[in-house]
Amino acid sequence: MHSTDMICYETYLETAEWLLMKTKHRPKVAIICGSGLGMLAETFTDQESFKYTDIPNFPKSTVSGHAGQLVFGELAGKTCVCMQGRFHMYEGYPLTKVTFPVRVFRLLGAEILIVTNAAGSIADDYNPGDFMIIKDHINMPGMAGLNPLQGPNDERFGSRFPCMSDAYDRALGKLALNISTQMDCNNLMHEGVYCYVGGPSFETIAEACLLQKFGVDAVGMSTVPEVIVARHCGLRVFGVSLITNKVTKKYDSIEVVDHESVLNIGKMRAGIFQSLIMELVGRLKLTSDEEASDLRSMITPYQVV
Ligand code: HPA
Repeated sequence: MHSTDMICYETYLETAEWLLMKTKHRPKVAIICGSGLGMLAETFTDQESFKYTDIPNFPKSTVSGHAGQLVFGELAGKTCVCMQGRFHMYEGYPLTKVTFPVRVFRLLGAEILIVTNAAGSIADDYNPGDFMIIKDHINMPGMAGLNPLQGPNDERFGSRFPCMSDAYDRALGKLALNISTQMDCNNLMHEGVYCYVGGPSFETIAEACLLQKFGVDAVGMSTVPEVIVARHCGLRVFGVSLITNKVTKKYDSIEVVDHESVLNIGKMRAGIFQSLIMELVGRLKLTSDEEASDLRSMITPYQVV
């Protein structure tokens, strides 16, 4: 962590204030869309969109398959904000930038963060096109000393040593599982452990075997930094991975992975993915508008317009 990577409270506030001025929406649910999954925002009604390049202090997205805009709107009767495209460490961003939007969402009044990603499967019984509700994670860069919360702690966001044993909300995971049964797609659903790796190179065979021994079910290059920062500032988290490929664990295997096949599986499963998230959002229990507005005015010194 370099001192230049630190982002001060006022910078998050400036961005939140700009957005609160530009949009009439007051989102309680924030959604981060992974590679090829950004179409979800297109189903929002009463949309208002902001390109990352136009939002003060926002990093810019550089990966194909990520639109690079923030979309506000209504989904299943709830006000949401959706990131079409996220920031990754492999693009060269420090983790404070990767996670910048999460604290902004908190300042906008969000209570729940939904994170989605494309991931490779390590578990033998997962197939491309399956979904995995994230029940826990392994933060590989974190274990090696790279965590978005490094540096001085700002108590206005959260405590110095946040608990992570309850990172993924169990009630929300159960709700998603019930919804998939009702949607008759529970044969595609798993619950498992997601491992965050830095990327951008995919795993070697030896790495894949190691991850399996560690108890990993799916591996990807995102999500965990955002979840850590979300839990630190008190957001409830639901995470789901779309399995886009099997990670090769045998030297005689002919399976290889590329970014295009990752995006294609996203397109193939867009319909089910959107229905699942829409149904979940529709059933979320959130605070009333009055309570939420109290919360926003407590966190931000700004007039909520
Ligand atoms: N490994 C890491 N990240 C990924 C993969 C993978 O196989 N597939 C999609 N994202």
